[in-house]
Amino acid sequence: MAQGWLAEGAGIQAEGEHRLIPLSESAPGSEEPRYEGHALVERPSLERGPMHWRERLPPLLLTAFEPHLPTAHEVQGDVLLVKLEPEVEPHAGTIAEAMLAQFSHVRVVCVDRGVTGPFRIRDVQVIAARGDDTSTVTQVKEHGLAYTLDPSKAYFSARLSGERQIAMDAIQQHHKRLQRRLVVYDPYAGVGPNLGLPLDGGVVESAVVGDLNAEAIPFMEANLSHIIARSAFPEARLEVRVGDGRAWRHDGTLLGQADVLFVNLPHEGLDHLDDLIPLLAEDALVIGWAVIERDEEAEVAQHLTACFAAAGRDVTVDVQATKGFSTTRTMVRLVVLATTGS
Ligand SMILES: C[S@@+](CC[C@H](N)C(=O)[O-])C[C@H]1O[C@@H](n2cnc3c(N)ncnc32)[C@H](O)[C@@H]1O
Repeated sequence: MAQGWLAEGAGIQAEGEHRLIPLSESAPGSEEPRYEGHALVERPSLERGPMHWRERLPPLLLTAFEPHLPTAHEVQGDVLLVKLEPEVEPHAGTIAEAMLAQFSHVRVVCVDRGVTGPFRIRDVQVIAARGDDTSTVTQVKEHGLAYTLDPSKAYFSARLSGERQIAMDAIQQHHKRLQRRLVVYDPYAGVGPNLGLPLDGGVVESAVVGDLNAEAIPFMEANLSHIIARSAFPEARLEVRVGDGRAWRHDGTLLGQADVLFVNLPHEGLDHLDDLIPLLAEDALVIGWAVIERDEEAEVAQHLTACFAAAGRDVTVDVQATKGFSTTRTMVRLVVLATTGS
């Protein structure tokens, strides 16, 4: 490569136990003893395919619709989800075939018409598949853990994987502080990704997880049971509940127990806090996410402090913007350490 002898873009080939390295026009011929005993052979070159799925579209479609073609997509396991502008919806099939040809690990391409309703489920329609299996059930690997899920039935976003690592770091600190395994509640758990890392790391004594969406429950239960079985603490207890997270306060067995509480309901979770605070142990960590108006982090921190104070709790509150949500709104991560006031 340093000598300019590598034919760039032609691809290295395998032949039995050998690797064939493509030589450029400027590489010396076989008469020169420069290849240290390696044989020179002639084979047809493997040309590199298109670098982008767009290059696989019919040229007329590409020029006519370029400004409307999708610039992003999300892959969950082997399911690709793509949002389409109305102008290119009639060409969804051609676009999907180009994507299937480009991404060899993708099995199904779906149009994603966005999340709807209280369960935040995507309106998903399969437009092309490799082979006969058009199911949207898939397996996602995140931080080395596997989650089986169906984006058409229960909420999941691969974009939040960084948030889950940050949550795990906060939980580990809390675990060190309390010097024991933790009781963790996740009333808005979806298919369970918030609990994956803490369970796998063996810092959880018992986990209570739930969701209002009954279709999320079998995925959540299977995913977390599977993780526990292979974890650093396979004796961890898992309790799964279907229903409204706000109703947990009416079950006396759940009150005052949670060392860690996830509040992962970004559009209304802040309004659920009064119902959730009674679930907390004396020294508890609350990790939540909320969509708020831009630059209102300080107001949200004040609101949280007031909510907890009204329930007789002292808190330290950290509100951090995680990503732009729209021009006016932003997603924040809330980390609250709540103790019982003296
Ligand atoms: C933003 S998703 C988060 C899911 C999961 N924690 C994750 O990170 O993938 C919110 C979840 O809360 C559920 N949900 C909505 N309202 C609820 C309620 N009142 N009680 C319990 N779950 C609810 C939805 O079905 C959805 O699965």
